[in-house]
Amino acid sequence: MYHGWTYDTDGRLRGVPGLRQWYQPDFDRAQHSLRSARVEVFHDLVFATWQLDGPSLTDYLGDFAFYLEALMARSTAGWEVVGEPLRWVSQTNWKISVENFGMDSLHLGTLHENPGRLGIFGGTDQEPLAITSVCQNGHGIEATKFMDSGDDRAFPGYPEELWEDFVANLSDDQAWFVANNLVCKGNIFPNLSFIDLFHDYTGDPSTPPAVAAKMLRLVRPTGPLSSEVWMWILVPRDAPEQWKRWSQESLVRTLGVSGTFEPDDLENTAAISSANSGSVAQRWNMLFLAGEHLKPSATVEGRQLPGEVFVCSANTESMQRGFYREWRTRMSSAATPDRAGVGGDAS
Ligand SMILES: [Fe+2]
Repeated sequence: MYHGWTYDTDGRLRGVPGLRQWYQPDFDRAQHSLRSARVEVFHDLVFATWQLDGPSLTDYLGDFAFYLEALMARSTAGWEVVGEPLRWVSQTNWKISVENFGMDSLHLGTLHENPGRLGIFGGTDQEPLAITSVCQNGHGIEATKFMDSGDDRAFPGYPEELWEDFVANLSDDQAWFVANNLVCKGNIFPNLSFIDLFHDYTGDPSTPPAVAAKMLRLVRPTGPLSSEVWMWILVPRDAPEQWKRWSQESLVRTLGVSGTFEPDDLENTAAISSANSGSVAQRWNMLFLAGEHLKPSATVEGRQLPGEVFVCSANTESMQRGFYREWRTRMSSAATPDRAGVGGDAS
């Protein structure tokens, strides 16, 4: 744009204004193509990296691939982004933003007490079962499941005609993990988070259907105390159009930037980021103590799940500890990739 150079859709240089007047006679356009990223596709998600000789996506996901597949592979028709992506900036350190959205459950009962009282989220009289898996390379996931439906192949909130398809596309353990989901959230290290949740659609008080909604969030660090968030709402391509709108609206009204939840999160995560940058706070460690007493479970309901798995009916900060362990390792490792190269990483 600056000097008007134009490129083909495959990255080859096409147009150079003033080519004959201002550049050497043997200027070779073929030498100045755009740089290529290495790209891999995982069930509708396109991942790209500038590290051409880095690990494959499969190796990078490691044992977390089981869970990402459970979230993304279950729809034969695939997923589509509904509506425009939501996008905002905040005065928040990217790590605080990521752990708040993709990992932290503790604040739901305190910071978000009021939306909870409004009954926006579908609930259960029984204690839900919370399963947290701390995976390789800093990835993690937590599923909070209804245990009282009597049908362990039910996907509450998703159109019932799609349930059979969901089960058919997953292994038995994957289907069990994501079925009867109240909230399933997590993070692909470092900064791609997701939430798949069930809640009541409050758009039409006379006929409020319960809908499920899924979203991806990318938190892009723009400075030590600033980040930009992109949020995409995903729906199965073959879901009824009306359901897609309900699902979208339910998310915009809750976890969208103007929703009932997100403004509280934004205010708090910005305050946490600011406070932690102060000279006194810098002398101390942040506290991630919840669930430290829990021991990893070899099996859950007789199933072996990948990762270091913790089971409880309350909240644990196991995922946060895994995330920050990975971050510390990378930031202190001599093997940290050369960030002077193109692109760089999120650290
Ligand atoms: Fe929150």
